[in-house]
Amino acid sequence: MKQKASHSPAMQALPKWKFRLTSTCALCSILAAVNASAQGSAEQGFRLMAAGSAGNCVVCHSMPGASGPASTFAPALHQVGARYSPQELRQWVTDARLIKPATLMPPFGTTQGTNSPMLAQPLLSAEDIGHVVAALQTLR
Ligand code: HEC
Repeated sequence: MKQKASHSPAMQALPKWKFRLTSTCALCSILAAVNASAQGSAEQGFRLMAAGSAGNCVVCHSMPGASGPASTFAPALHQVGARYSPQELRQWVTDARLIKPATLMPPFGTTQGTNSPMLAQPLLSAEDIGHVVAALQTLR
């Protein structure tokens, strides 16, 4: 005799279309969680921005919460989160030359066109840049 396929209690309790809908929504919340973690941590971003061995953004920019002398070499970062989208902020940090070809801001996400034998890899990883962008987004 053939055995009947056993259904989970959830599937038995719900009509088929409702069951499908519930499973799809469970997938949505997993995807949302993954996406949120891909966005990076603002706290880590600020740490990278202030660290001399990492972003060292403070050597050129002033920003809220930074200790030490405030540089006026580059525009203050106080409201960049309100003025730029996350994509634009990512572009500024990854390679500002694509926004302003003659910029004095170093490209943090690529070594392309830098001609520096000391720069074997980008100054910041894509993940680090995610953290920095999360930090910049809070500056409003
Ligand atoms: C060597 C100096 C220098 C460093 C280091 C530097 N920047 Fe910049 N940055 C500039 C300059 C100069 C500009 C202005 C753009 C221009 O006119 O070339 C700028 C512009 C920007 C802008 C756009 C600001 C605006 O008001 O339009 C953002 C955002 C930014 N930088 C973020 C960062 C972050 C984040 C870091 C660190 C990861 C960083 N910068 C490191 C020099 C620097």
